[in-house]
Amino acid sequence: MDIRVNGDRLWSSLMEMAELGALPGGGSCRLALTDADVDARDLFVKWCREAGCDIAIDQAGNIFATRPGRNADAPAIATGSHLDTQPHGGRFDGVLGVLAGLEVVRTLNDAGIETEKPVAAVNWTNEEGVRFPRGILGSAAYIGAIDVDSLHALQSTDGHVLGDELRRSGYLGDLAPGAFPMERFYEVHIEQGPVLEREGLPVGIVTAGQGIRWFEVVVDGEDRHAGTTPMDVRRDSLVVAADMIRDLHSLGNDHRPDARVTVGRLYVEPNAVSTVPGRTRFVIDLRHPDSGTLDRLEREIDALCRRAAAAGGCGVTVNRTMSLAPIAFDAECIATLEQAASRLGLPNRPMISGAGHDACNIATVLPAAMIFAPSRDGISHNEAEYTEPEHCAAVCDVLLQAMMADAGAVR
Ligand code: HGY
Ligand code: MN
Ligand code: MN
Repeated sequence: MDIRVNGDRLWSSLMEMAELGALPGGGSCRLALTDADVDARDLFVKWCREAGCDIAIDQAGNIFATRPGRNADAPAIATGSHLDTQPHGGRFDGVLGVLAGLEVVRTLNDAGIETEKPVAAVNWTNEEGVRFPRGILGSAAYIGAIDVDSLHALQSTDGHVLGDELRRSGYLGDLAPGAFPMERFYEVHIEQGPVLEREGLPVGIVTAGQGIRWFEVVVDGEDRHAGTTPMDVRRDSLVVAADMIRDLHSLGNDHRPDARVTVGRLYVEPNAVSTVPGRTRFVIDLRHPDSGTLDRLEREIDALCRRAAAAGGCGVTVNRTMSLAPIAFDAECIATLEQAASRLGLPNRPMISGAGHDACNIATVLPAAMIFAPSRDGISHNEAEYTEPEHCAAVCDVLLQAMMADAGAVR
C-alpha cells in the first residue's frame, strides 16, 4: 500500500528521547537501567500504550510492544533495537530502530490499516554492554545464550547487580526470555560507518554481521613504593599491560583491512600516584568477518599477552567474556527489504555490518535482517553522531513496507 511514515513525528520523537540523559555536546548518555535509561523506557512504553499497543516485559527487561493483528495467535512480525547508549552516545544509535518500530505502529493507526499478524516494536536491554558486561545482552537472553540466573547475577561497573536493577526499575518482567513469539525480526540502525554517505545512498540492506569477541585480561604484578623501589626490581602491571596493548594494536594493523582490535576499557589498581600498580585489567574488543581468522587471532592474542607478562615478571589471565559468531541474515527478509526499497524508489546497496546488533543474535533463531541509514562522516559512539531527518524517514518507510508485506496488511 502506498503509504508513508510521518517523518516529522519520527524526528520529534527522536529529539524528545535524546533529551533523556542529554549531554552538553548534544549527545545522550543512558547506560542500561540507570535512571536515564529507565526514563527512556517509561517514555517508550507510554508512547506505545498511547498507540494502542499491549506491553510485555521479559525477565531480561526486554520490552515488547504489540499492535494486535486479526490473528492473535500468530507470532509477531517484529522490529526494534536499543535505548541504552554509550557514555558519549549519539542521538541515533539504537534509538532510531526502537522509534522506527513505534512510527510503523503510529502510521498503521493513522491509515486505519489492519494486519493479519501482530506487529511488535522491541527494546532490548543493555545492547551496548557498557554498564553490565557483554553487549547485546537482552537479545542474548532471548536466544538462550545466557540463562536467567547468570544474567541476573551480572555485576555492573558501578557496583550493582542486574537482577536488583531490573527490580528497582520496575522492568523485571514475568515473561521467560525467548517466550515472546516472533516470526521475523527487522532492525533499523544507523550504519555507524562512512559507506552510504560516501556513495550517496539513503539505504543499506544488511546481508551479514561480522564476528565479535571480548576478552578480559588481568595482569598481576606487585604493589610497590614508587620512591623506594628501584626500576630493575619492579613488576609493574601497567607497563606490561601497555606493552600488550601496543602489540594488540600492531596485530590489528597486521590483519588489515578487515580485522578490528580495540582496548577501550582499562582499570589500574590501586590507581595511586605513588604506588607501582600491582594489577591492571583491560578488555579487548576483537572483530572480523571470518570465524577461522577470529580463532587464529584469539590464539595470537593469548600468546602475545603471555610473552609480555613473562618479559615483565607478571602473571596474566585472558578470559573470553563474549562471543558473537559472524552471521548471514535471512535471504527472504533481505529480498523483502530490497523489494520495499525499490518500490519506494530508494537507491540502496547490500552491506556487511561492522557493528554488532541485537538482530545478529535474533538471526540465530529466526529469520532476520537489517536496514542501515547513512551516518554523517561515518561517526558513531560519539556525541557528533548524526543522520539526516529524510534518511531516518526513508529507512522507516522501507521497514513499514516490509512489515506490511510480512504481516498481511488490509485496509
Ligand atoms: O559495539 C557494537 O558493535 C555496538 O555498537 N554495540
Ligand atoms: Mn547500536
Ligand atoms: Mn552502539
